[in-house]
Amino acid sequence: MKALRLNRIFFIIVILALFTHVFSMNTLKVTANTENHSNGYYSEKYRPQFHFSPEKNWMNDPNGLVFYKGKYHMFYQYNPYGNKWGNMSWGHAVSEDLVHWTHLPVALRPDKLGMIFSGSAVVDKDNTSGLFKEKPGGLVAIYTSAGETQQQSIAYSTDEGVTWIKYEGNPVIPNPGIEDFRDPKVIWYEKEKKWVMLLAAGNHIRLYSSKNLIEWKYMSKFGENEGAHGGVWECPELFELPVNGDPNNTKWVLQVDINPGAVAGGSGGQYFVGEFDGETFINDNPPDEIRWIDYGKDFYATQTWFNTNGRKIWIGWMNNWEYAELIPTHPWRGAMSLPRELTLKTIPGEGIKLIQTPVSELQAIRQSPYEWKNQRITPGQNILSDITSNTIEIRAEFELGSATEFGFKVRKGENEETIVGYDTERNQLFVDRTNSGVGQFHEQFPGKHTALLHPVDNRIELHIFVDHSSVEVFGNAGERTITDRIFPDPSSKGSELYAKNGDVQLISLTVNELDSIWHK
Ligand code: FRU
Repeated sequence: MKALRLNRIFFIIVILALFTHVFSMNTLKVTANTENHSNGYYSEKYRPQFHFSPEKNWMNDPNGLVFYKGKYHMFYQYNPYGNKWGNMSWGHAVSEDLVHWTHLPVALRPDKLGMIFSGSAVVDKDNTSGLFKEKPGGLVAIYTSAGETQQQSIAYSTDEGVTWIKYEGNPVIPNPGIEDFRDPKVIWYEKEKKWVMLLAAGNHIRLYSSKNLIEWKYMSKFGENEGAHGGVWECPELFELPVNGDPNNTKWVLQVDINPGAVAGGSGGQYFVGEFDGETFINDNPPDEIRWIDYGKDFYATQTWFNTNGRKIWIGWMNNWEYAELIPTHPWRGAMSLPRELTLKTIPGEGIKLIQTPVSELQAIRQSPYEWKNQRITPGQNILSDITSNTIEIRAEFELGSATEFGFKVRKGENEETIVGYDTERNQLFVDRTNSGVGQFHEQFPGKHTALLHPVDNRIELHIFVDHSSVEVFGNAGERTITDRIFPDPSSKGSELYAKNGDVQLISLTVNELDSIWHK
């Protein structure tokens, strides 16, 4: 009897245990599903949906941008161990279309010469370096070793940038006694079949040349008395472009970042247009003329892709050293801008200017458009009240009327909005993020950023990209750009087209919601 009862108790315990097990498995599954739904991959608060950001941890400058064997490589300043600056290494991602990215393992890590600071990468297709066994060579990265001093080092890869071998004779350019001595950008100068390196050296740029990427000869310097000097110069660039699309008339652009002292405060970029003869860069314009690249606060350390066949494309880090470590994102911190295609154009009254437009590949993520044509916009009306989304692209053309200001309010919530507008009295394009959401983490974050922009035939064109935590504005087909991070509540999805103190004529307007590049 006793044995039978014990048996029964044992049986009940087994059934109960089984039941609890199955039940707990189910709950586990349910939690996993909910996680996927509301908290899944790249779904964290403020996570950019069509901009590049690392899965986790800190990111700053784009590095080593190179197109190779059908892939755009993007390396970037990365801290593998936390989401503040430190342990600087090169993170790595690749893309076939500049829109969708695949993460790859960390490519370069600190060594006895120091951390791996910013730099570039080239395709050494003729094996000029002799680092490869034979043609067709491979990739060479040129970067700053930042230890006790800053020096330039190289590394090479025979497996399309996945793993790297550091050159045993590093550094290839030892420090000559200059404290800030970094960010090598190497280009191929076809006319003399040589490599040219630009280096940021405190308040100027130094140019070097080499036949083999290993032995470098100092050639010239540029900039001590040119352009803006409110801070240290960093991350130089040099490239040649046709003017107004004419291949027989080209100019060279030398771009350099400055921190602090940029147009909107903190860090930003400036550029010079001129001549480069393989040895010296000569600015075509007066030395005190400053040409800003972007008029927002969050477009820094731009670099162009090497080897893109006539197309010049660059990308920037969407942040500002003023508050870079304070922006409220977790577990990652740092995002890139959209890749932008560069051209040179003569603007009446301004000379030859750098024009930036978002790469056309981005059209692939447009969802079906909402369209309007020829409509008079008056104060108080909002034709966009049906659009609720936090990832949109807006393309609009206006003919100026009596309104003193018009534009778009985006990421609108009950108590917040970001204004992208045009002030017709001051001829100013602007982004006002004063009341855009969370911004109290730094006193210089809230504010309005403006750029002079003249109407063409009394018309203004706006091209705007709005993501979960950024706005990028291209005015008059890329003549002026404003790039700003914003941190609105995810529920702030409203948009408005507004006119102030009068009317404006809307010639055309297209709004597309944009797909996420991180969810298939
Ligand atoms: C620019 C910069 C570079 C340097 C890197 C370090 O943002 O300061 O000059 O190489 O960041 O992470």
